Amino acid sequence: MTTDDRPPAARPGALKGATYGDEWWRHAVIYQIYPRSFADTDGDGIGDLPGIRSHLDHAVDLGADAIWLSPIYPSPGLDVGYDVADHTAVDPVFGTEADFDQLVADAHGRGLRVILDLVMNHTSDQHAWFQASRASREGPFADWYLWRDPAGFDDDGTPQPPNNWLSFFGGSGWQYDEPRQQFYMHTFLVEQPELNWRNPEVEAAQWQMVRGWLDRGVDGFRLDVFNAFLKHPELLANPAREGESPWDRQEHIHDRDSPDFPELIARFRSILDEQPGRMSVGELFASEPERAPALFADRHLVFDWGLLAAPWSAEAYAAAIDGRERYFGEDRWLANVLSNHDQSRQATRLAASAGIDDTDAVARAAAVVLLTLRGTPFLYYGEELGARDVPVPDDRIIDPPARRALVDPDFQWWNRDLCRSPIPWTPDANGHGFTTGSPWLPFGDDASVRNVETESADPGSVLSTYRRLIGLRRSTDALRTGRFRRVELATPDVLSYLRETATERVFVVVDFAGEGRTVDLSGLGTRAWRPVGGTHVEPSTPGADGSLALRPLEAVILVEA
Ligand code: NOJ
Repeated sequence: MTTDDRPPAARPGALKGATYGDEWWRHAVIYQIYPRSFADTDGDGIGDLPGIRSHLDHAVDLGADAIWLSPIYPSPGLDVGYDVADHTAVDPVFGTEADFDQLVADAHGRGLRVILDLVMNHTSDQHAWFQASRASREGPFADWYLWRDPAGFDDDGTPQPPNNWLSFFGGSGWQYDEPRQQFYMHTFLVEQPELNWRNPEVEAAQWQMVRGWLDRGVDGFRLDVFNAFLKHPELLANPAREGESPWDRQEHIHDRDSPDFPELIARFRSILDEQPGRMSVGELFASEPERAPALFADRHLVFDWGLLAAPWSAEAYAAAIDGRERYFGEDRWLANVLSNHDQSRQATRLAASAGIDDTDAVARAAAVVLLTLRGTPFLYYGEELGARDVPVPDDRIIDPPARRALVDPDFQWWNRDLCRSPIPWTPDANGHGFTTGSPWLPFGDDASVRNVETESADPGSVLSTYRRLIGLRRSTDALRTGRFRRVELATPDVLSYLRETATERVFVVVDFAGEGRTVDLSGLGTRAWRPVGGTHVEPSTPGADGSLALRPLEAVILVEA
């Protein structure tokens, strides 16, 4: 028998963050991959699991600790994978079961963990559970979805929905189903029926599925719209309120955020805790950040959208950051995110919100904020390149609510295709190293310069900036785990804050204005601040008088010398 006396974290093959034990995710940077858009190995224009495997080194070079895969399960694809027909398997469009197991093995071999996106609020209407449920009011699956009798019938005999709940994707949240002569509820598409989480058999089936993925080596889960799982047991109508859209004209107190939800999420956590070191994060659906703390469980993170919703101004960022620190408190760990597969790309969104043309400069400054705040940063593939929204003509729109918005004047929607375009690996206009076929969504017209190969060669690129910042974060305890304290400097348009441990003090200062600004650091109790990183390859340095002249959109990270 051979023994390895090195601590587990130092042994070959150790996962990143192993030094930090089961709570590695507090120290981690997590990289979201949208599988369709990452790398295509079979020429069908759609990314696949072998493609992700062949580009794992990109996540490693970036400095990520884990990859989160948007849904990879069999799906009719109406909500581009969030309509799941079988939560226990891999969609053949992405590869085979063996491809998935090999991906986990290869990722682990590089120290990377693998996080799956679990869509447990609803299924596709093609899921075997729903097929059985709609077939009979008596069968074993009869009560697995939210079925209700009509509230009545109008003069024409048309059945009326059981209550006023709406679909987030437009229209009523209820669909009348002839086979059962009943309505079923759907928060999203008609083809995404809502599961009945108050049925213990549903819960048991979900945990069995979760255990299956854990047994295959999956390191954690992102839970889709998790605060919608439990509805009011009597399905009470939502009260009305003022608002600009039908959805906003309801107070959504009975169709989400149920007071007994924390007990459910604690039961989920206990399944994960059967195996060491598994992480989880729940996506807060259509709720304000102040509602997030009520949805926490021990060792479970919550994505709130406080930071993501802020426009690019020092004032708005300060308000968002202060609000989140206040609501969550020091004891809850934050999940920090600026982009995902549902939102306009941060380079486009933030630059536009401030009327700034240089999207790369904004992307670099936003990266400094994201990677130096308290909490775990989640990156969305492409943001590390400064990727921008890629326009899609109306007749090529894929996102179903965006298609509805074309024909329903009551329904407003931003086309999510724009933030889902394939990642360009190379300048080669013939598929950009993503595909040899025709990509499922177009590349941006900047792909010949804003791609992985070109940016890797440029120390000033957004990609090189992300790599440097993540490296700095990894080697700086105060940035990963330090206390957070915002600091008001007298200079307008500048955001600044301290991160502190018992032995280390880091000061972050960010110019939002697009014009140079000079700040005075002399009030911070020391003059010995040494720049260690930021937006620029050579960060600006404070003068002997404690003043620091920032270049336009420059962010500087300083360590107390
Ligand atoms: C939230 C996901 O992020 C989004 O992409 C999806 O459309 C809805 N959940 C419905 O599953």
